[in-house]
Amino acid sequence: MCGIVGFTGTQQAASLLLEGLKKLEYRGYDSAGIAVLGDGGIRVEKISGKVEKLCEKTMDGAAVPGSTGIGHTRWATHGAPTDLNAHPHLSNDGRWAVVHNGIIENYASLREELTARGCAFHSETDTEVIVHLLEYYDAGDVKTTVMKTVARLEGSYALGVLCADKPGTLFAVRESSPLILGVGVGENYFASDVTALVSYTKNAIYLDDGEFAELTPEGITVYDCSGKQIEKPISRITWDVEAAEKGGYAHFMLKEIMEQPAAVRAAIAPRLRDGEVVLEEFDLTPEELREFNKIVITACGSAYYAGCAARYALESLTRIPVEAVLASELRYADPIIDEHTLLIVISQSGETADTIAAMKECRSRGARALAIVNVVGSTIAKTADWTLYTWAGPEIAVATTKGYTTQLAVLFLLAMSMGRKLGRLDDDRYALLLYDLLRLPKLIQNAIDLNHAVPALAKKYHDSPSLFFIGRNTDWAVALEGALKMKEISYIHAESYAAGELKHGTIALIEEGTPVVAVCCNEALEDKTISNIVEVKARGARVLAVAFRGDRKIVSQANDVIFIPKINTLFSPILAVIPMQLLAYYVAKENGCDIDKPKNLAKSVTVE
Ligand code: F6R
Repeated sequence: MCGIVGFTGTQQAASLLLEGLKKLEYRGYDSAGIAVLGDGGIRVEKISGKVEKLCEKTMDGAAVPGSTGIGHTRWATHGAPTDLNAHPHLSNDGRWAVVHNGIIENYASLREELTARGCAFHSETDTEVIVHLLEYYDAGDVKTTVMKTVARLEGSYALGVLCADKPGTLFAVRESSPLILGVGVGENYFASDVTALVSYTKNAIYLDDGEFAELTPEGITVYDCSGKQIEKPISRITWDVEAAEKGGYAHFMLKEIMEQPAAVRAAIAPRLRDGEVVLEEFDLTPEELREFNKIVITACGSAYYAGCAARYALESLTRIPVEAVLASELRYADPIIDEHTLLIVISQSGETADTIAAMKECRSRGARALAIVNVVGSTIAKTADWTLYTWAGPEIAVATTKGYTTQLAVLFLLAMSMGRKLGRLDDDRYALLLYDLLRLPKLIQNAIDLNHAVPALAKKYHDSPSLFFIGRNTDWAVALEGALKMKEISYIHAESYAAGELKHGTIALIEEGTPVVAVCCNEALEDKTISNIVEVKARGARVLAVAFRGDRKIVSQANDVIFIPKINTLFSPILAVIPMQLLAYYVAKENGCDIDKPKNLAKSVTVE
């Protein structure tokens, strides 16, 4: 995830900025840079790679003199991790420098507009439009210029702005992306994260969306979006560096669970324009799409389960047969695949060895591969014919959470886009699905909020030797992910079963007190799953159901119920998985497990 720092004072800015960037390294990044205003104007130093490399290049900052500056660690989204794409970006007249976290959703149209006016671009980033807008709107007054520029931006952004005409002054702007101002004595700071501030000051001002601030060594002035000065309270930072890295959460996994509304928004929002799903990176014509007579999804672990969950939406909306196959199986299966197969390859890291091998095998048979990947510039992203990034930001906990939900979000967009282009998704159904898609970030937040009872439930279930997860159709896919989450971080044996399969063998294992997690979010099949609940309860099972809010039927059948907000069944896995993640997390916590680094597991499985 990108990180931002800013400093104004009397000390040399560069070394402080580099120190701040080091504190933000834990967030994950692929390039870094600083811009400092000195006697000769703004000087930018940026590189792809680590902050350490930037320190070497700048002699720990000594080569970049000046006492006002901004810095950035970049996690690539728009454009590969290269020196040119790294921040800060500089205007063509060299008078403005900008660092940015977030995504400018309307960057394509702004870039077109500025290019038409003769503006030259030097990077592939969405951010670069900001610095050229600043130059374009420059009216001699920095505050007015910043306001005019920000008024043109759509999306999420935390911005740090440096202007060569205003030595000692920084501007910081916040919209849907965190930005904190550090209040010092004779110097002031900003950062995207308190970790970068705590070594310098414990006094902070938290900007709200739509607010911006002017920082000088003497003071900080905060404005609302209309430019009116407002009073903001100064808060005391109580976290140490370690707590700050995790945003105050006990573990990265919990932090990443909580980040899901924002992550899913980042995956979806830039791809919805005027009520249409726009996938620029996979912009096939209806005729080209009609060439595909089969879709094969391949991946490993949770990414595979995301494929299992989304295959229902893909099949239902495109009416093309869809198969989900584990990459480790597909690579050796002598699969019947040819140029009429669309291969969808899902991977958070983009480096999973089995997934890469399965993709190579299928492409050698003529299939064309569409990758759904989080890490920009990874092997899978580079090798596939097309790549749709999930834009989840770096995932630090080994167990994936926001990686999985953003994969689902992109797969749902894909299903809708393909179904629409193929003419197999009528306007009414499209409108209903679009309505749910737009609400997804909010619904995910609601699902998190509705799960307040999970820590107490975890106390009830944490000492079970074994748990079962059941469901049908989309619910079964969620049960698969639920069981995996439980196993990998709590080390408790967990089995997932298609509910209708229980009586073909597994029900023999159900005895007095066996916990059964029943996912019941597929309304058409709920009565069927309830009949399975009745069967296991008759053998002594304790049933914890996951169901839509307002479902009264389930309350009388299950021992405990966790509710999620109602949504179209095809999209329900993205909400139903939230209680699975939280349950696994709190059970593991209850059992004192090393949640972020479970034993025997690696974040990226680069061996077969
Ligand atoms: C489980 C988990 C793994 C990964 C799998 C694939 O929480 O994280 O099962 O989903 O190793 O990894 P990627 O998505 O990087 O290909």
